[in-house]
Amino acid sequence: MVGKVIVVGAINTDLVITTPTLPVPGETVVGSNLQTFGGGKGANAAVAASRAGANVTLIGAVGNDEYGKYALESLQNDGVNVSNVAILKNETSGIALITVDTKGENQIVLSPGANGAISAEYVRDTLTELLPSADIVLVSTEIPFKAIAAAVETTSKFGVKCVLNPAPVIPGLEDLLAFGPILTPNEIELDELANNITGVSKSGERSEKVSDDLYTLNKKTESAVIATLGAEGSAFLIPGGEVEQIPCYLNTNVVDTTGAGDTFNGVLVTQLAVGEALNTAVNTAVIAASLSVSAAGAREGMPDKDSIANACQQHLKACISS
Ligand code: RIB
Repeated sequence: MVGKVIVVGAINTDLVITTPTLPVPGETVVGSNLQTFGGGKGANAAVAASRAGANVTLIGAVGNDEYGKYALESLQNDGVNVSNVAILKNETSGIALITVDTKGENQIVLSPGANGAISAEYVRDTLTELLPSADIVLVSTEIPFKAIAAAVETTSKFGVKCVLNPAPVIPGLEDLLAFGPILTPNEIELDELANNITGVSKSGERSEKVSDDLYTLNKKTESAVIATLGAEGSAFLIPGGEVEQIPCYLNTNVVDTTGAGDTFNGVLVTQLAVGEALNTAVNTAVIAASLSVSAAGAREGMPDKDSIANACQQHLKACISS
């Protein structure tokens, strides 16, 4: 069974330099030769979902320039339907300047270009056409708030499952929680969103903080909240349940963590689109994300369906024998 996934989000080209350490303000660091990769959280998640076996349509925008052409070509090569990506004449395409250190950690500076010009009307009209045959919609937040709100509201109106990846957390996002999207923040975003709701910045033990924040958001959305915790895997909470931890068992050589969260989101929606239980979907997404960090570039290490299935089997065997 193949799930139909719609992704609403940003499309970038990533210009990447690897350095021994990330520069601090005012510092000049000499790094590797420049590398160019496809990027953008929406586009990356769309590629992850397509490689994981979903039928994926991306809603977004690029400029009418060489970077836009490169972005669309690389998405098409990965089987993503880009016929609903707008090509905006007076905008430049989204660019991310990325520095990656030898531990695989990154720093990203974004020039949104066309991503910042996607209108709410465009998103609403396109979704209204596509939603009747969709299984799930993934929305990420590198696009204007009004476009994000239009995506979440329209998806909810059609009764289709919506996953909102609050990366980054932007003002007003908490107002969309009443529409009940499944949330997939990382630890920083989880804390930011929870603080925006409670008005209190918490301190204290890490796991307790994550757990408190999950309950805070869960109360607002009445939907699952899934936190990605990097090398710690994931913790999630479903309404009426208790916090569940999904550890990261695979021992991958970490080259570049850029795009790991996007891989998680793309694989998660692919699994949910075909009706997998949340626990299984999160587990598979954690495994896929841990595979994705083994190569430079957001998409280079993203696994395909077979690699995910093999890794899940290995993981299962390791669990049984431990
Ligand atoms: O999540 C990684 C992505 O964030 C990069 O590909 C970059 O384009 C930024 O959007």
